[in-house]
Amino acid sequence: MELERQELDAFTGQSFPGEQDGSATEIFEHRESAVRSYCRTWPKVFDRAVGSWLYDEDGRAYLDFFTGASALNYGHNNAALKRALLDYLAADRVIHSLDMHTVAKREFLTAFDELILQPRQLNYRVQFPGPGGTNAIEAALKLARKVTGRTEVITFTNGFHGMTLGALAMTGSKFHRDGAGVPLPHGIPVPFGCRLDAGNPDSPGLERLLQNGVAGLGEVAAVIVETVQGEGGINAAPLEWLSGLADLCQRQGVLLIVDDVQMGCGRTGPFFSFEAAGIKPDIVCLSKSIGGYGLPLALTLIRPDLDIWKPGEHNGTFRGINPAFVTGTAALRVYWRDKVLEESTLAKGEHVAAALTELAGSVPGTAMQPRGRGLARGLAFEDPELAAKVSAAAFERGLLVEKAGPKDEVIKLLPPLTATDSEIDEGLAILADAVQTVC
Ligand SMILES: Cc1ncc(COP(=O)(O)O)c(C=O)c1O
Repeated sequence: MELERQELDAFTGQSFPGEQDGSATEIFEHRESAVRSYCRTWPKVFDRAVGSWLYDEDGRAYLDFFTGASALNYGHNNAALKRALLDYLAADRVIHSLDMHTVAKREFLTAFDELILQPRQLNYRVQFPGPGGTNAIEAALKLARKVTGRTEVITFTNGFHGMTLGALAMTGSKFHRDGAGVPLPHGIPVPFGCRLDAGNPDSPGLERLLQNGVAGLGEVAAVIVETVQGEGGINAAPLEWLSGLADLCQRQGVLLIVDDVQMGCGRTGPFFSFEAAGIKPDIVCLSKSIGGYGLPLALTLIRPDLDIWKPGEHNGTFRGINPAFVTGTAALRVYWRDKVLEESTLAKGEHVAAALTELAGSVPGTAMQPRGRGLARGLAFEDPELAAKVSAAAFERGLLVEKAGPKDEVIKLLPPLTATDSEIDEGLAILADAVQTVC
């Protein structure tokens, strides 16, 4: 009834009682689904964005240490990527082409092959599964089951893999799982960082689980893991644990899927987050920053002998929009032809880690724990309310930092990898001020 009235008022040009002055966010509150979320954390209307900065419609600047949850590793409207995109658009090049061959796709695959796969001695077929990270996960899960003929997948507590039903079944968050409305079977959760050996019957390890199977469940097709859990609270798996996990999977004939949707594309330093562990997963999922510019693109990388898809067996309309190939190619050519970005990310990451360690020790009586790898960093609070207050206080001071973890108890810092040293220091100073004020 209220909506009909509002529509009528809009049509007749009359104002809607109580809303004459027109709040800037009114249309979102009335028309957009209740499911919207980040806009509740940062209730402003944003308009422009350059590099590490977002601007609201009143022109106020915010330092962005959220970066679309790592979808903007090269910053907002990165000049080199924008040039490539504008040139492409100006010349009426192909935008949408399903999975037909295009020059833009050829250039992307060539750059990915030359700059990413070959130098790392990685040999993967590239599947474009659909635009989001969750699409990359769905394709990986389907393929792992198809190849092995098995159903179960080992997942880790607090893992996050996406919202479509297959990926959601691998996701730990009860809040998100409850949204499914149907059972979410075929994921076997085990503790992140669990013991990997067989252990003993009282304290079994993952090897025992894989050897003996799980009562009432089918056999295990794959293990899916994030090397650093992003949404789960910036939990960095020890590198030796990751290499032990890869060895175990190989010994047991179980496929290893690394979900590098959030931690890939240089977030932890190297292009792939698993490089530091010296492992070669069977399947890798990428999305977020692979398109470079915030344009949707996802990749499922497949060990060649596992690529048993029949043509068109897994499809979808948006499996690689060409503008994302163009900006993705530009990002690879600008940032991944040498080690400069990787090394600067590692150095900046160490700097942030040191600052967080100092901050964590600076407030007597408030327990805080710094975490992370590369430029994926977190500050965990014992009390989730403090994390919420710190995030809000940082926002008031012009810094976007999101919360993560099972209770939203971790302040998550994902600055652009291209942020300058002074921008990093400015963000850290705002965070320190927010922590000191709140705690
Ligand atoms: C590790 C990981 N996997 C998968 C996803 C799902 O990606 P998308 O939201 O693009 O579907 C996310 C999203 O945050 C993620 O962090």
